[in-house]
Amino acid sequence: MGETEKKALFSAVQPSGAVTIGNYIGAIKNFVALQDEFNCIYAVADLHSITVRQEAAALRKNTLELMALFIACGIDPEKCVLFVQSHVPAHCELTWVLNTITYPGELSRMTQFKDKSAKHADNVNMGLMDYPVLMASDILLYQAAAVPVGADQKQHLELTRDLAVRFNNRYGQTFTVPEPYIMKGSGAKIMSLADPSRKMSKSDENPNAFITMSDDRDTIIRKCKRAVTDSGNEVRSAEDKPGVSNLIAIYGAFTGKTAEETEREFSGKGYGDFKVAVGEAVADALAPVQAEKARLLKEKDYLNGIMKRGAETAARIARRTLSKVYRKVGFYSGD
Ligand code: TRP
Repeated sequence: MGETEKKALFSAVQPSGAVTIGNYIGAIKNFVALQDEFNCIYAVADLHSITVRQEAAALRKNTLELMALFIACGIDPEKCVLFVQSHVPAHCELTWVLNTITYPGELSRMTQFKDKSAKHADNVNMGLMDYPVLMASDILLYQAAAVPVGADQKQHLELTRDLAVRFNNRYGQTFTVPEPYIMKGSGAKIMSLADPSRKMSKSDENPNAFITMSDDRDTIIRKCKRAVTDSGNEVRSAEDKPGVSNLIAIYGAFTGKTAEETEREFSGKGYGDFKVAVGEAVADALAPVQAEKARLLKEKDYLNGIMKRGAETAARIARRTLSKVYRKVGFYSGD
């Protein structure tokens, strides 16, 4: 199949701090798996990050680190377009136009806006409210047919689809209406190690609740040993065993083993042995990624080159869509 026959797929990750193994399993690992099937376009979403307060130096560092992590995890810059969102001005430009067909009520009722407004009550800004429109622009600029999203971004993708349809109805066919891409066999949502009823989050105030992609071996094993498990001692994936089920999911994501295989492997053994095995599996899998990331971070020119090339390619594709939009809404082009 020729390059042009593959469908476009877009996704992005915000460079706002540590990346957890939950982010890896839920997003980046899938990005790698999708790169042959689709024309993949992946961004470091720095424009989104500043909707909550960031320290400038940290944001710059996190942006470069996330780019290095993408590549270290196996995203191939020869196969995918890999870029930093703020390097492509069309994202902001399309956001402005889409703002004019978006209603305030649609944005103020977004679950994530309400959650983040409550969490950052001292900084409820228009950017936080407009966040989903910027996300819609990200996706629509590339005529993406598919967007791999976790549950927390589904509402934003729904809005993206509504805006695409609304624009197309008002101005004529312009945007591809994107579909959510649900990964085969991996509904795996990784939960907190301290409270398996909550999603694993880097902003958890308890650092034992999450494992980051840069935690060292001892830290990883210690966190797994401390993970909250359920009553009983049987390693079995079940609804009434959320702690153990979560560890089985983590173990599976890093070893490729199914829940049944893991249950068999640890039958007759207790939680203690299993937790150490999970920690070791995670540490073993992350070691080469961490080494490669460290190596890449020393090759800053190489990373800058990838970003530059990615932004050029992205800008070319985005400009095509934006020109069409500008024409449809009636902006005088001068040529
Ligand atoms: N909002 C997404 C998140 O925090 C990141 C993101 C930005 C994104 N633009 C996107 C995801 C476009 C998918 C498509 O996870």
